[in-house]
Amino acid sequence: MANRFSLELAQRPRRLRRTASLRAMVEETVLRPSDFIAPLFVVEGKAPPDEIKSMPGVFRLNIADLVKECRALHKLGVPAVALFPKLDPSLKDDIGTQALNEDTLVLRAVRAVKKAVPDLTVITDVALDPYTSHGHDGVLTTARDDVENDRTVEILGRMAVLQARAGVDMVAPSDMMDGRVGAIRRALDAEGFTGTGILAYSAKFNSAYYGPFRDAVGSAQAAGTRLLSKATYQMNPANRREAITEVMLDDAEGADILMVKPAGLYLDIIRDVREATRKPVAAYQISGEYAQIQAAARLGWLDLARCRNESLIAIKRAGADLILTYFAKDMATLLGR
Ligand code: PBG
Repeated sequence: MANRFSLELAQRPRRLRRTASLRAMVEETVLRPSDFIAPLFVVEGKAPPDEIKSMPGVFRLNIADLVKECRALHKLGVPAVALFPKLDPSLKDDIGTQALNEDTLVLRAVRAVKKAVPDLTVITDVALDPYTSHGHDGVLTTARDDVENDRTVEILGRMAVLQARAGVDMVAPSDMMDGRVGAIRRALDAEGFTGTGILAYSAKFNSAYYGPFRDAVGSAQAAGTRLLSKATYQMNPANRREAITEVMLDDAEGADILMVKPAGLYLDIIRDVREATRKPVAAYQISGEYAQIQAAARLGWLDLARCRNESLIAIKRAGADLILTYFAKDMATLLGR
């Protein structure tokens, strides 16, 4: 005789949540160390690791320490790193001259890492913001109110060739200029770097959550005065269809991996992109996403490990094959190989 409270349901989804082993058996999304790409910041000199205030646990590393970190990440099964240089302000100018110096910081870092850990995939950013005094991703028009697309793209092509020559496996244009993926592909091929890949920041939104990163590389202030707005090149956060337009352009121009950035607030975009292309999709859990989890955890308001894990599962579940995240090392440590 059925319990008088029994609903006599044919479907009881809770049956598969009853025990830990049942829950594991029906788990749909699983993270593994090879899902992650670790963004790393490199500085000149020999100073000890310098923690970024708004990014607890993330450090600016000199080249020797960067190499050590890369070795550790490789051992943990993290397949790739994305390198970002923090230049001394005295080396910055209006047109980002240092970006085309073949001995600039990031290129020396690439050579050191590739020599020490050849199997680790090394990715470098192609954009002028670490090199310009105004912090924009390209050169400004004479009116100084906008970034000049085609002149910037020409510089980015040359920058990518220098990075390829230094030994990177992939270049990652993060500037959002029109036509830069195709131009970079042609520039690389013309120099014989047909095997150097392009990880394109295809749908990169004009996000307020980049703040901690701009502190990290010192691109936050627009020559002291102007407010730094990248609204004329980065996408409007309100636009969903436009993200697909951007992604399909980069796909057609020859990008090997297509990226959405930021990640956590743009899960719908990640899903749309996953459905629009057959190529691998990456998502960048950016500095502000990391900072807000860290900050709430420090206040005792959220559980760090659980929020970290959930934020990353959500990004993968949305459709990302790869995730750039400042939690890469922690996750690889947690997950094992
Ligand atoms: C710019 C660049 C940015 C990030 C990576 N490359 C920020 C920006 O557009 O100012 C942000 C990464 C992060 O916030 O973690 N080329």
